[in-house]
Amino acid sequence: MRATLLFLFLFIISQFSTAQETPKDYLSGDFHKERREALRKLMPKNAVAVFFANPVRNRANDVDFQYHQDPDFYYLTGYNEPHSVLLIFSDWQESATGEKYNEIIFTQSRNPQAEMWTGRRLGAEGAETKLGFKTAVDHQKFKDYGLEFKQFSKVMFFDFQNDIRDERGEADLYDLQQQFKQKANIPAGFSGMTHRMHQIIKDEKMNFTQKKESLYRMTRFNPMALNDPIIKDFMEVKDNEQAMKLIAKIPNNNLDVELLDGYMDQLREIKSAEELKLLRKAVDVSCVGQMEVMKAMHPGMSESEIQGIHEFVFKKYGSEYEGYPSIVGGGQNGCILHYVENNKPKVGNELVLMDLGAEYHGYTADVTRTIPANGKFSEEQKAIYNIVLEAQNAGFEACKVGNDFGAPDRAAREVVNRRLAELGLIKSGEQHSYFPHGTSHYLGLDVHDRGTRDKFKPGTVITVEPGIYIPEGSPCDKKWWGIAVRIEDDILITADGWENLSARAPRTVEEIERVMAMPSPLDDFVLPDLDGKKN
Ligand code: GLY
Ligand code: MN
Ligand code: MN
Repeated sequence: MRATLLFLFLFIISQFSTAQETPKDYLSGDFHKERREALRKLMPKNAVAVFFANPVRNRANDVDFQYHQDPDFYYLTGYNEPHSVLLIFSDWQESATGEKYNEIIFTQSRNPQAEMWTGRRLGAEGAETKLGFKTAVDHQKFKDYGLEFKQFSKVMFFDFQNDIRDERGEADLYDLQQQFKQKANIPAGFSGMTHRMHQIIKDEKMNFTQKKESLYRMTRFNPMALNDPIIKDFMEVKDNEQAMKLIAKIPNNNLDVELLDGYMDQLREIKSAEELKLLRKAVDVSCVGQMEVMKAMHPGMSESEIQGIHEFVFKKYGSEYEGYPSIVGGGQNGCILHYVENNKPKVGNELVLMDLGAEYHGYTADVTRTIPANGKFSEEQKAIYNIVLEAQNAGFEACKVGNDFGAPDRAAREVVNRRLAELGLIKSGEQHSYFPHGTSHYLGLDVHDRGTRDKFKPGTVITVEPGIYIPEGSPCDKKWWGIAVRIEDDILITADGWENLSARAPRTVEEIERVMAMPSPLDDFVLPDLDGKKN
């Protein structure tokens, strides 16, 4: 009896201490299960959707990059390990032993030796108990698992990257993909792009001219596709009669590399309350990062030091990653849209463009603030800044249910063009390259998230991020050279308007200057000189 009590006590303590060890605010197993149901409802009858986990990427020698799961795979499973396959069936299947299942995950094997070096693994049992899968199987069994892919009307998957050789495991991603190709009768040298083009050539709903135009566009971006004899010949045929002869040569199969993209775009575009909670946290954390940097900033700081303060704040709040490589560009460096070197030793008296987003439990923010390193905007900096601010405000107002995806961009661009002409940087109506990127993208598990680019719906989160970049040598007065401003906020489209999720990060000239004048806890954080002169 005493032994039983002692065991019970130890069991409770161990549960309690495990409960203390990991955050509890991940997406729930029910969320992922419901998302698989939602996908199943979109799928054609008698089809299977096949998803692979992201590959492990080697950094150098025996060191890999920190693992990051493929966002579609994470959305549907919550599983954060590599070398895994997920199958979702539109109809019930029956195993050799008579069990019914309509989804199955193959997970990497438990392995105490490997887990000692590279971390804990859930194993199939953990996928059932912790992620709520009814059918989870060790990935080594995928090879001989009784699945007849030819019985399905459609076998849907994303095109293969074909660069994932990693022969260290018993059933690594490379093996799993090879096994799938064999089971599903995927021909050697299969290319998703070529397959898509063949489908277009065969499409009975398209006329000859539409097919020609589509293929012309696709081959311009993928010239290697012209190595395929059918595509090459199709680009040369003159009429539908000749095209029909080619169509007869295209093999019939049940493979599809297009439908899943559309389904995942639809599903991931709309965020549930559970997702929004995590996304809000990622955005809040990123805004605090911006605020703390504003307080701490001085002209003697380096770009990487500024980056480090943001990223320290992200970690302090439990963010696992940055959602994308951090961008901290002083002066002219801000003109490089995705500048990631961040190696200028002193930002001096210029503007510093800071585009950084914390990733919290998968969801990433994307917030940009541009601030004067010395705490005060010059006249020229302020003039450009206020144009971008006005353009952004116009973009916000276009974030309404029913508006099309391009509406914020048109609104922001109209302001930039008009105001730049008023300032004399361009002539009215003149084409220019001072605003060379789009204004919005979806935001979620990916920084450039999935979405349909259709009319706005409630629950959609997009960025609104106009910018003006005036590199040295631009055809305008030299006083504008080196000014680069982007302001980027994360906007939730609601049933009756929009909400700025990143409103907490100071955005106007006055707010920024006020916060920059505040003391920072980092003012007292003085590190020793490495040459030993000071301590
Ligand atoms: N941070 C990348 C972007 O704004 O799209
Ligand atoms: Mn962005
Ligand atoms: Mn950004």
